[in-house]
Amino acid sequence: MTVSSNAAQMAEIIAIDQNPEQALARALASLKAAELVAIPTETVYGLAADATNSRAVQRIYEAKGRPSYNPLICHVSDLAMAQRHAHFDPLSRQLATAFWPGPLTLVLPLRAESTIASQALAGLDTIAMRAPRGFAGRLIDAFGRPLAAPSANRSGRISPTCAAHVEADLGQRIGLIVDGGACTIGLESTILRVEDGTIRLLRPGGLSLGEIEAASGRKVVVKSAESKIGTMPQAPGMLASHYAPRAALRLEAREVHPGEALIRFGGVAIPGEDKAATVLDLSPSGDLAEAARNLFSALHAADASGVATIAIAPIPRHGLGQAMADRLARAAAPR
Ligand code: TXA
Ligand code: MG
Repeated sequence: MTVSSNAAQMAEIIAIDQNPEQALARALASLKAAELVAIPTETVYGLAADATNSRAVQRIYEAKGRPSYNPLICHVSDLAMAQRHAHFDPLSRQLATAFWPGPLTLVLPLRAESTIASQALAGLDTIAMRAPRGFAGRLIDAFGRPLAAPSANRSGRISPTCAAHVEADLGQRIGLIVDGGACTIGLESTILRVEDGTIRLLRPGGLSLGEIEAASGRKVVVKSAESKIGTMPQAPGMLASHYAPRAALRLEAREVHPGEALIRFGGVAIPGEDKAATVLDLSPSGDLAEAARNLFSALHAADASGVATIAIAPIPRHGLGQAMADRLARAAAPR
């Protein structure tokens, strides 16, 4: 089923924990028929299709309303599959070995013999790849080919971290959603590119720079998110206004105005919160991993409550806090 099908038709949802074999078989059948399947990964839900089939890849762009210049991440089962499509320098290989399967995407030079559909790469001579954990990894292994999969949301919206988010946003545009519960990390992967032995950060995400630096023994070169806003981004999808809720966002809020929704952190009460429409704490105990896991769900929930403005209290910026600050800045950017 694609975008052009009957709008009233909703996606079938199949839960992994009820019948893992059936979930795998149904997802495989859809992929083989060049159809789209929303699948859980440890970062966010992905909208997956056969990366080697141009018609299937085209359907991803249509369902998301994604501009064709924005390339997709190709998901692999392991390093061996990745090496059939990209050239690995020693440092990229070291990073893949250290962090795959996991929330790390590497941008690499494309091999001439790669069978990935050119639409998935938006005409670039590089390819972004990652090996996801869990069901997604098993699915790719069984399929035997890479899956192109952006986050399973319409272009510009907040990424989904549970099946209900996908259903609300794309349920009328796709045929199948595999429900694997809430994502364990809850932020998209960290995107890196190694150039001349230098590790460059293209997008902060679910793998912190501290972990990358500890494993590689090298500093990661970061360009400030601010400098990219409004200019041609290094990861083409990193446009300023992204992850946008309907409500306006007020960042670094140290007080709440009556009727606003409040998203706070670490159990710290914010003046005025007794008059807030909703109060959500990302992690009452102050755990950044828990906060990352809850961030997109909190934005979805605050937005769904119908408020005009969501106030976001200060969140620490170290570790996963860096990627959270990046997503919130984009969500707050003018549209
Ligand atoms: O965790 C994730 O990365 C999730 C899950 C589903 O794996 N996927 C995801 O995909 O976040 P998406 O499409 O929402 O974001 C992919 C980003 C985009 O900003 C895109 O521009 C960038 O990766 N990208 C893809 N190919 C690239 C390339 N060759 N060079 C630079 N950036 C690239
Ligand atoms: Mg996305």
